Amino acid sequence: MNALARRRYSKSAPVLLVLILLAALTAIGFVANGSPADAATATADDVAEGQKLFAANCASCHGLDAQGTDGVAPSLIGVGAAAVDFQVGTGRMPMQASGPQVQEKKPQFDAEQISQLAAYVASLGEGPAIPTAEMVDPALGDAAVGMEIFRTNCAMCHGSIGGGGALTQGKFAPNLWSTSNTHIYEAMLVGPQSMPVFNDANITPENKRNIIAYLDFQQQGSPGGLKLGSIGPVAEGFWGWLVALGLIIASTIYVGARAS
Ligand code: HEC
Ligand code: HEC
Repeated sequence: MNALARRRYSKSAPVLLVLILLAALTAIGFVANGSPADAATATADDVAEGQKLFAANCASCHGLDAQGTDGVAPSLIGVGAAAVDFQVGTGRMPMQASGPQVQEKKPQFDAEQISQLAAYVASLGEGPAIPTAEMVDPALGDAAVGMEIFRTNCAMCHGSIGGGGALTQGKFAPNLWSTSNTHIYEAMLVGPQSMPVFNDANITPENKRNIIAYLDFQQQGSPGGLKLGSIGPVAEGFWGWLVALGLIIASTIYVGARAS
């Protein structure tokens, strides 16, 4: 090693590098997670802005006063802010192509416009409101209880871990691994298209949050790290053992061979 190389090489360098990497990963994690926007309280301005957006983008199908158009689109009076936040927030509305099922698209409006549209529709008649951040916080829910409730009420369409599944006549229950917590709650409240409504008597608000905790757990991937296509903890654990044990045995043999 010449003098320059010795100066460049520091014993603490690898440790520092790992620390920097960890810090960077943590930062990325924070940014990627973000926090769900709280349901803002609607003002008269929001309602007025929402009405303008509605007239320009929705009235052609739903009617100028959201009263609905026969054979084209249903009335939105009384569907509530939750239905609008769900339909527009997941990009289903404004609807474009007609088919067996309204398609999800990239949302066409930003969060502020969506809350304005929601405020306008909510002003037309009483309906389910957008859940608060606390109501959908997976940290406050119990994933084990949520799993039970999900398996009895949702799994027949969405699959036991929310992977989605085909229904009849070209319809399908989508996978729930990238759906936001708020949209999961709202889907239960409003029951989009062929999905039934799960009101608070069917599934209590607390159990709705437990379901969210369960789905959130699925979204985070398995606790073991790599997901391996979600074939299940036992099968994935088995692979973990196989690969890890294989490595340990291989390195033991290698070390043994070098020593002798
Ligand atoms: C091309 C026509 C069309 C346009 C444009 C459109 N919609 Fe719809 N909308 C529909 C139809 C059709 C349905 C019913 C879908 C179903 O349930 O099969 C619907 C359903 C909905 C629902 C669900 C109602 C319920 O009972 O839960 C909401 C909320 C909604 N639309 C909001 C909007 C908003 C807000 C806009 C404007 C940003 C919009 N729509 C634009 C055709 C349209
Ligand atoms: C009868 C079948 C059926 C059952 C039971 C059912 N769903 Fe659905 N679900 C659907 C269908 C179909 C859609 C798609 C509707 C659409 O695109 O408008 C859907 C959509 C959703 C969405 C929206 C997903 C997205 O990506 O936007 C969520 C979230 C959801 N369901 C959660 C649930 C939960 C939680 C339960 C149980 C409490 C449940 N569903 C029970 C059929 C079902």
